[in-house]
Amino acid sequence: MKGLRICATGRALPDRVATNEDLSRMVDTSDAWIVSRSGIRERRFCGEGERTSDFAAAAAAQALERSGIAPDQLCACIVATVSPDFATPSVGCLVQRRLGLPEGLPCFDISVGCTGFIYGLQIARGLLLQDSRPYALVIGAETLSRMVDFTDRSTCVLFGDGAGAAVVTLEDAPYASVLGARGDPEALWAQGPGPEISAIHMDGKAVFRFAVEAIPQVVRALLEQSGLTAEDLAWIVPHQANRRIVESAARRLGLPMEKFFLNLDRYGNTSAASIPIALDEMAGQGLLARGQDFICVGFGAGLTWGGALLRW
Ligand code: UT7
Repeated sequence: MKGLRICATGRALPDRVATNEDLSRMVDTSDAWIVSRSGIRERRFCGEGERTSDFAAAAAAQALERSGIAPDQLCACIVATVSPDFATPSVGCLVQRRLGLPEGLPCFDISVGCTGFIYGLQIARGLLLQDSRPYALVIGAETLSRMVDFTDRSTCVLFGDGAGAAVVTLEDAPYASVLGARGDPEALWAQGPGPEISAIHMDGKAVFRFAVEAIPQVVRALLEQSGLTAEDLAWIVPHQANRRIVESAARRLGLPMEKFFLNLDRYGNTSAASIPIALDEMAGQGLLARGQDFICVGFGAGLTWGGALLRW
């Protein structure tokens, strides 16, 4: 089986930290409410004039440098985002220009909400299987603070900005992938894209209920497809939306919380960026060893869901 190996990762986050205290000066909320209902303590917000492509390019440059590969060995640059700089050109094209990537490279965005990075991995694998160039760049990048209504306390406390990137390649290793979608324009929606992006609207309870079912279903399907058991996995890396969602999914799966990597306390929900940012933090902390298998699982706007069993 041709699996996917993560060769190297990178991340880029805005310097500006917004704590729960900061938000409680803007809307009627409190650190205690946000921490107890979501687990989030702080998030990063982009500065005036900063755009998604700035973070996407910085994260990608870091991943490429760490991978040690030459850009002409890439067969694709895929950016998952719902907060692109412009409707067109895509963030993928802006990254191509910023990093001087070869022109014979497909560079494009995918709009899959918080499941975008997972979809990007599967698309990358498909392209890798029919290309002689052995690597692909998959990026998740968002500036959601540009889309948040800072008078709506039920959403503005949850989201943050940033980007993560991974250089991936095919490898003889276990692999499994699950992708799904159920069109729902009411659960989570925003108009856009563009500099004048309209606010995010969300039925939090509906998305919560959906997520606590989606995670266990995806994890079970990946294990069944691959023939592996949870014990074979070094980690499960979930989309970083809400600690309670992950706790509920862990209970349903009968797995300890220690199996799940969480960093949402520091970054909030960065949508498509949350999983690659998490992977890069894990790499930096030495939490994944070469040859280990792990699962990434995402869910979110669309509605969409998906997971991938990957090799480090
Ligand atoms: O990437 C996927 C994107 N979305 C998600 O993952 C979101 C999934 N949903 C959630 O995480 C949760 O539903 C929330 C964190 C959004 C909300 O938590 P909840 O436990 O479902 O709260 P709730 O919406 O039922 O609200 C409970 C109360 C309400 O007050 P009343 O009606 O009981 O008086 C809300 O008005 O909490 C109030 N509330 C707040 N209070 C203080 C809502 N937001 C806030 C807030 N601070 N920020």
